[in-house]
Amino acid sequence: MVSRVIPVDPFDLVIFGGTGDLARRKILPGLYRRFLAGQMPPDSRIIGAARADLNDDSFRATVAEALAEFVPVALREPANVAAFLDRVGYVSIDAKGTGGWSDLKLRMRPNVVRAFYFSVAPALFGDLAERLHDHGIADAWSRIVVEKPFGRDLATARALNETLAKHFTEQQIYRIDHYLGKETVQNLMAVRFANILFEPLWKAQYIDHVQITVAETVDVDGRGAYYDKSGAMRDMVQNHMMQLLCLIAMEPPYHFDPDAVRDEKLKVIRALDPVTPEDIVRGQYLAGKGPDGARTGSYVEHSETPASTTESYIALKVNISNWRWKGTPFYLRTGKRLRARTSEIAITFKEPPHSIFDDAKGWRENVLVIRLQPNEGMNLMVMIKEPGPGGMRLMQVPLDMTFADALGAGAEEVPDAYERLIMDVIRGNQTLFMRGDEVEAAWAWADPVIQGWESRGDRPQGYDAGSSGPEDALMLMHRDGRRWREIKE
Ligand code: BG6
Repeated sequence: MVSRVIPVDPFDLVIFGGTGDLARRKILPGLYRRFLAGQMPPDSRIIGAARADLNDDSFRATVAEALAEFVPVALREPANVAAFLDRVGYVSIDAKGTGGWSDLKLRMRPNVVRAFYFSVAPALFGDLAERLHDHGIADAWSRIVVEKPFGRDLATARALNETLAKHFTEQQIYRIDHYLGKETVQNLMAVRFANILFEPLWKAQYIDHVQITVAETVDVDGRGAYYDKSGAMRDMVQNHMMQLLCLIAMEPPYHFDPDAVRDEKLKVIRALDPVTPEDIVRGQYLAGKGPDGARTGSYVEHSETPASTTESYIALKVNISNWRWKGTPFYLRTGKRLRARTSEIAITFKEPPHSIFDDAKGWRENVLVIRLQPNEGMNLMVMIKEPGPGGMRLMQVPLDMTFADALGAGAEEVPDAYERLIMDVIRGNQTLFMRGDEVEAAWAWADPVIQGWESRGDRPQGYDAGSSGPEDALMLMHRDGRRWREIKE
C-alpha cells in the first residue's frame, strides 16, 4: 500500500526538551520518517532547545544517535540522514530565565508556520508560554504543543489552561494525547461512521457491555519518581482510556471537524456517572521473574516512596447516563507488568431475542474486537453451523480483518502516532487534540474517584508479575455474570 502524502507548509518547529527522552525516542525519529516521506518542505527547520550547553553540531550528533537507536537501519541511508540533519539546529535556553531567548528569536523566520513543542516538565509549561510571548517569538499564527500530563487534578489543569490562555488562543493550543494519533484509534471513527452496519446496533438495546483493555508488560523501573505521583488512573485512564471510551460512546458528529468531534466527546465525559468504590479495583505488581528467569523487582522497589500505595493496575466499571448507553456498562482495565502487551476494545452484543435451534450448545454472543496494538485490526465473532453431518450444532468463528493483511502494508508503513500528530499541528488541524474543556471535564470525573480511595486509605491489591492482574478484578466482572477477555498478544 502506498500512503498518500499530504503536503504541508514550510515550518520552524522548536522542540523544548529537545535532548529529552521523548524527543529522542519519538519526536525526532517521527520527524525523520516524515522527512523521508517527503512531508518536510525544503525550507523547514527543526530547532532543539534545552538547557544543555550544546551547539548545532553537537546537537546534530545527538539526533544522529537517536535515529541510529530508534529508526530501522533500512531507513537510514547516510545521504538521507545527512540531509535531515542539515535541517536541524540548536539553541541553549533557560526556560525560567532570560538566557537564549534572543538567540531563539533570531532563528525564527518570517512567513513560515511556527510550532513550539513543550516536551518538558509540566512545571515549565507556563514559563515557556510566557517567554515566547514576552520575547515576541510567538506570533498570532504560532502553535504550541503541550505534552502530558496536563495537570494532576481539575484545579491544576484549570490553572494551566488559564496560564496558557493568557498568551495563546485555544486554536493555538495542541494538547497531545498520543492515543488519538494511533491508526486504529482513528479507525474507530471510520468503522462507526463510514459503515451502515454497526451504527444501528450501537446502543444499550443491542450491546451488553464494552471492555477496554490496555495491558503492558513493562514495569515502572526508572520512572518511579513520576509514576508514583501519578498511578494508572492519572497516567492512563483520565487521558488515553477516556479518549477511547469517548470515541466508542459519542454521538455521530455532524462533520469530521475539530469542534464537532470534540463537542461530542465532551458530552460523553459529562454524562459519566460517579464511580462507586465497589466498582474500582486497584493493584500493584509484586516481584517476579523475567523471561530470562532472573528476579524482577516489585512496584514498591521501583517507586521512590517506601510502602507506596500507588496503583500500577486499575479496573473500573463505568456507567454512562444518557439515552444511548444507560444500562450498558463499560469495563476499563490497564496495568503494568502484565502477562502480555495488548490494547483492545471488545464490544459484546446481546443475545438474539429468540433461538430457533433446539441445540443451542456452543452458542456465544457476537463480539466485535478492535485491536489497537499489536496486530492492529478487527475481529467480528459470529456464529455458524459446525461443519459436518452432526446436526445443527453452532460454533463461533472470527471474521478476521488484520489490517496488515487486508491492506498489504508492513507494520513500518503505518505512521507512528507522533508523526501524524506533529503533521496535524503544522497543518493546523486540531481534531485529534484535546480541547481545554475536555481535559477539565475528564479531571472533574477522575478527581472524586481518586479522592475516594485516598480518603478511605485503600491499599492496592498485590498481583503476580506476568499475570492478568489482581484477583478482585475478576470479581468485578463475575459479579455481573460476565468475564474479562484473556490478555494475550
Ligand atoms: C504513556 C504513559 O502516556 O503511555 C506510559 O505515561 C505508557 O506509562 C504509555 O506506558 C503507553 O503508550 P503506548 O503507545 O506504548 O501504548
